[in-house]
Parts: sequence; structure tokens; C-alpha cells
Amino acid sequence: MFSPTALRPPGRFFRFRYLVPVIVFLVVVRFSLPGNVGRETISEWGFLRYSNKTWMPEDKALVDSVCGGLRKGNRIVITVNTGATEILERVPTLLRSSLLCVPNLGDRQVFDALDTVPSEVMNGNTDFDLYRKQLELKDPVRVAEFLKGMKDPRNSDTAAAWTLDKYKKLHILEKAWDLNPNMDWYLHVDADTYVIWSTLVAWLAKLDPTKESYLGSLSFINNLPFGHGGSGMLLSGAAMRSFVVHHNGTAARWDYKMQNECCADWVLAQILTEYGMSLMNSWPTIQGETQSTIPFDSSHWCQPLATMHHITPLQAAQMGDFEAKRKDKTKPLTFEELFNDLVSGLIPRTLDDWDNMALGHTENDVHSFDDCVGACKRDDKCLTALWKGDECVLGTDDVKLGMKHIEGDEKKRWKSFWHKERIAAWAEKQKCSGEIKFPFEDGKSSK
Ligand SMILES: *[C@@H]1O[C@H](CO)[C@@H](O)[C@H](O)[C@H]1NC(C)=O
Ligand SMILES: *[C@@H]1O[C@H](CO)[C@@H](O)[C@H](O)[C@H]1NC(C)=O
Repeated sequence: MFSPTALRPPGRFFRFRYLVPVIVFLVVVRFSLPGNVGRETISEWGFLRYSNKTWMPEDKALVDSVCGGLRKGNRIVITVNTGATEILERVPTLLRSSLLCVPNLGDRQVFDALDTVPSEVMNGNTDFDLYRKQLELKDPVRVAEFLKGMKDPRNSDTAAAWTLDKYKKLHILEKAWDLNPNMDWYLHVDADTYVIWSTLVAWLAKLDPTKESYLGSLSFINNLPFGHGGSGMLLSGAAMRSFVVHHNGTAARWDYKMQNECCADWVLAQILTEYGMSLMNSWPTIQGETQSTIPFDSSHWCQPLATMHHITPLQAAQMGDFEAKRKDKTKPLTFEELFNDLVSGLIPRTLDDWDNMALGHTENDVHSFDDCVGACKRDDKCLTALWKGDECVLGTDDVKLGMKHIEGDEKKRWKSFWHKERIAAWAEKQKCSGEIKFPFEDGKSSK
């Protein structure tokens, strides 16, 4: 369910300063224009490659076309945890799509999430090599160029940015509160998280922010549950108050212990449990997959979708376009709508060098892609088929778009097949009706 390599690194803290506050982005480093005192608006900030027009929310025509009447949620604060090595690549797309509809979006600022880590924690700690290098290089474009490939000196399989990431999260929580205290909800995401704002505002309107609630997508490390950070973690105002005010100084205490820990989202869960808040598992609404890898099946077809993770800039742009074309942009997005109005249209009949992640069973005695397709057609339950060059998997359990797969051995090229007619009939059969149900909307499991 969880693999550390699937976690996304970096962290930084940007802030969108609203009339009524709304978004916070966390950044690791101060980028350095003359006179800079630790924060910059993103527009000043070296997004040289992006004209204001393509991504700045001040473009009212763009906001209207993408968001429709949806300009609610001004008591929700969003923090985006990112890092110098990915910020240029990811954040502009995020601003142009996912986060465009956040109301009262004013100037956006980048904050250093690590500026209060004590020097005795950083000194001699190679986890901070990347951070020190960033401070030295200053220019964000050079930082992105030079530091992207940097590895953790203690573990050459791990990106330095990933190692550094764990030091940020607890500070980000505290900084988010300092900047925008007493809001109703705080959503903490990574820069490759896609937020579906229409679902989020409709969902949070049904929950009570005065209860101490910690919502996320359940994962486990060492048999201990936690809310997976990249999928997005939601903390109510009351939960944030408990963490930041009643337990003032938590981040500073943990700075000294973090080096031996794997991940900040896991650590956070242990801390919150100690403070009396256990995770309210909100999967699949808080989601760790993308439109390409979500397994569409009957089990969560009618449920709402608020976040996705591991979104590439292209996928974010695709979702942005999709959201902009929705007839009612204020409606929560369900898996049904995402499948019917986006994914099913992207699915071809066959595709070479492609892994459609067919889930079901392996069909024996099949020796070619054509035979594999034939076997699928003969099996009434088969929706997709995947030929792995020497193995035929018939997908009966769900439907996925999947992703490119290049096999080194030319003779073993992968090929995917989707039984489009059967898939269309299958989608039609599980039509949703009635009100959308949100996780914990009955309030039962919140404290
Ligand atoms: C972006 O907007 C700022 C402030 O309105 C302006 O000074 C700057 O020239 C603009 N940049 C581009 C590339 O249009
Ligand atoms: C936490 O404690 C420090 C030091 O006593 C104080 O300056 C700060 O305002 C407190 N923060 C909060 C959120 O209460």
C-alpha cells in the first residue's frame, strides 16, 4: 500500500496572501533578490519562463472560465510543501489549474520552512547539505539546475531533497497557523498533489471545524497508521490549535529527533495520536493515485474525489482543462464523473508499449497479443487485457488508463487492450443516484 519511494519529497512554503487568507506554500529557501528578507512574491521570483498571464489568478477571464461560480472556501488555508529542485517545474501548473479557484487569491509568497531549525541540528548533519547549497546558490533557476540530481550523502539511492523533506512539515504547520491563525480548515499538500476545490469546499462545509479532526489517506509504517502526506492531510482549526498553541514548540522539539525518522507525515501521526487525535481515514476521497492510475471499480464509483497525488505537470494541466469544461463547476467531482467525462474518452482500443495495469488473472497458453485480446473477448467479465510479451493478464476487477511501459527486450513489448463496449455498458450499469456522501459527514467519527 505504501512505498517510501512513492512519497514525494521537497518542501517549501509559498504563501498566497488573501484578503481572507487562504493559501500557504512552503519553501525551503530564501531566494535572493536584493533586499529580500526571506519572502518573495512568486511573480518576482524567477518564474521567468512563465508570463503572468498564463498562470496568475489575477487573470479574471481565466478564473471565470475555469471556476465558474465557484469562489467559496475562504476559511480554508492550503499549504503546499515543495522544494527548490521542483518548484519551477510544478508550482506554476498547480496555480494555473488546481488552486486557481481559491477565493481572494492575492499575491503569492514563498517561505522558508527551515529558517527556525536550530543551527546545532543542522551543523554537521549531511541531511542539510542541500539546504546549505541552496542558500549559497541563491538563484532559483540555478538551484533547480544544479541540485536536482543531488543525492543523500548517507544513501546514494535517495534524492537529497527527499531526505531534507521530513524536517519541513511540522514547521509548515506552525508557520501556517502563525500566518493565518483561527481559520476553519488547513489542508497540507505537496506540489504534486492535485486539489479538486469544488469537492473540498462542499465536503468541509459538512464537517465541524471546532472538533479536533485529522483526516487523510491511511498508510502504515511499522504497523503504525498515518495519513499519507502527498495525498493531502486535513486538519481542522481545532486540531491545528491543539498542535500549534496547546502544544507550542512541537516542531522545535522534533528537530533534534528527525534525523532518525523516515518521514514527517508518519511522525506527525504519532504526535497527533499522542495529542489525542487519531487519523480519520478519508480514502478514496483523499486519493494517492492520478487520473491515469486510479482503479475505477464499483466500490467507490459514487464517492467524491478531493485530491490526487503524483500528478505530473501534464496531468495537472489535463485535469485543469477537464475542470474548466465541467458544466457545473461548483459540483463535487465523483469517480463516476471523472471516468465518464475524462478517462473513458482517453482510453483507446489498443495501445503499444503501454501498461493498462489489468487486474484479474493470467490466462494460460496464450502466445500473442491477438490471442490475448481474443481470450478477453471470450470472457464475459473481461474489461481489459494486458500482454506483457509472454504473459496475458485479463482485467476483470477494475478499469485503468495506465501508463507508458517500455520493455528493454524488443520481443517482449507490452500491449494493452480495452474492451470499450463492455466498459461502456459496465459504466452505465453502475450509474449513481441520490446525494453524494462525504467521509465523516455524519460527524460520528470525529471527536
Ligand atoms: C507581471 O506583472 C507585474 C506586475 O503587474 C509586472 O511588473 C511584470 O512586468 C509582469 N511580467 C510579465 C512577464 O508580464
Ligand atoms: C509559542 O511560544 C513562544 C515562546 O514562548 C511564543 O513566542 C509564541 O507566540 C507561542 N506561539 C503560539 C502559537 O502560541
